Amino acid sequence: MQTRRRRSKGGNGPLAGARILLFVTGGIAAYKSASLVRLLRRAGASVRVVMTAGAVRFVQPLTFDVLSEHPVCTDVFESPDGGGVRHIELANWADAAVVAPATADLLAKAAAGIADDLATTTILALRAPLLIAPSMNEAMWVSAPVRRNVERLAADGRRFVEPGTGHLACGEAGAGRMAEPEEIVRALGVLLAPGDLDGVRVLVSAGRTEEEIDPVRYLSNRSSGRMGFALAREAAGRGARVTLVHGPVDVPAPAVNRVTAVRSAAEMKRALGRAFPRCDVLLMAAAVADFTPARRAGNKIKRENGQLAVDLVPVPDILASLAERKKPGQLVVGFALETEDAERNARRKLADKKCDLLVLNRVGEKTGFGVDTNAVAVFGGQRKLFETPVVSKDEAAARIIDAVVGARARKGRS
Ligand code: C5P
Repeated sequence: MQTRRRRSKGGNGPLAGARILLFVTGGIAAYKSASLVRLLRRAGASVRVVMTAGAVRFVQPLTFDVLSEHPVCTDVFESPDGGGVRHIELANWADAAVVAPATADLLAKAAAGIADDLATTTILALRAPLLIAPSMNEAMWVSAPVRRNVERLAADGRRFVEPGTGHLACGEAGAGRMAEPEEIVRALGVLLAPGDLDGVRVLVSAGRTEEEIDPVRYLSNRSSGRMGFALAREAAGRGARVTLVHGPVDVPAPAVNRVTAVRSAAEMKRALGRAFPRCDVLLMAAAVADFTPARRAGNKIKRENGQLAVDLVPVPDILASLAERKKPGQLVVGFALETEDAERNARRKLADKKCDLLVLNRVGEKTGFGVDTNAVAVFGGQRKLFETPVVSKDEAAARIIDAVVGARARKGRS
């Protein structure tokens, strides 16, 4: 990524000596960016700050002047001291850049390549990696235009540290609150550290499928998409180029390189079949239907018809069919959720479906469907490699990706 990093006093982590360019845009979370500057300085980074016109309405530039020990830049037409062009000088200076908070307006402009102030013009000129920490009301965050812009930016290689859930300045509660400064610092550290999946192409499936019975009814399951999304985010954070294929879900998809939404198992099979030949790792976390109605009624089935029997036929096993045609360098990871004889079934599935690794989801109150926590056991060969206690799905994803990195290294040696 960057080759001209300097080492300096103030820590020896990935941020020590790094030049971080911070863009502050006009959201109420702008005040939190003052502690972000302090934390970055404490980690050994040099920080320069660009503020938009909106940002200076929320926080005085002097605050950032003092904390960063550099004059804050706001004007695209003002030349640097030694002459030259301000936005090019700033863009060339940075080892990494971060927008915190990023408003919906900034996302839209950056996605479209608009350059109408110092922040947007400098972002266009950046060659260094850019991390974006959005902050807005939940309705805005989930709105179609913002989703489109986030997807476009992710496809351009921009990284996101996604907003958390909690109390919002508008008085509502929900998703949209800017990630905490500590989390942004961690994400910048990951951005600057060489990733152990740098350039690896990872294909992730997530969510559930819906199998239509008639135009208004379908068969599905309770998968929320959270585990698959955590895996996609973790892989992207570690440098992978991530393609995500997901069925219906309960949470917004993470911003990774390519996202395809599907509905039925048949659509998922087609989308994965297209993407699989170009991936190095498949993480098959989707809860794909095992059965689908033998026939879909063309019209809504009437209750007056009395008792109803729906004939179900098995859905082809996508994972097994993809693993069947895997090439030597490809690694396939299956997932299983068992309610009885879990470990024996997990080992059997690993072999039957020709997976390199199999992740067993424990079923319990704090694990499995619809919650933010999970407990997993990972099998490889005929061995149980490890199991976790109940942890966050992000933590479980990090452990699973560690296992993927380990399995790839073993595969490379054999
Ligand atoms: O056999 P079982 O459904 O428990 O296996 C779960 C694993 O198989 C998961 O990785 C799931 O994504 C995958 N699967 C599939 N196609 C199906 C059903 C499950 O790829 N039709």
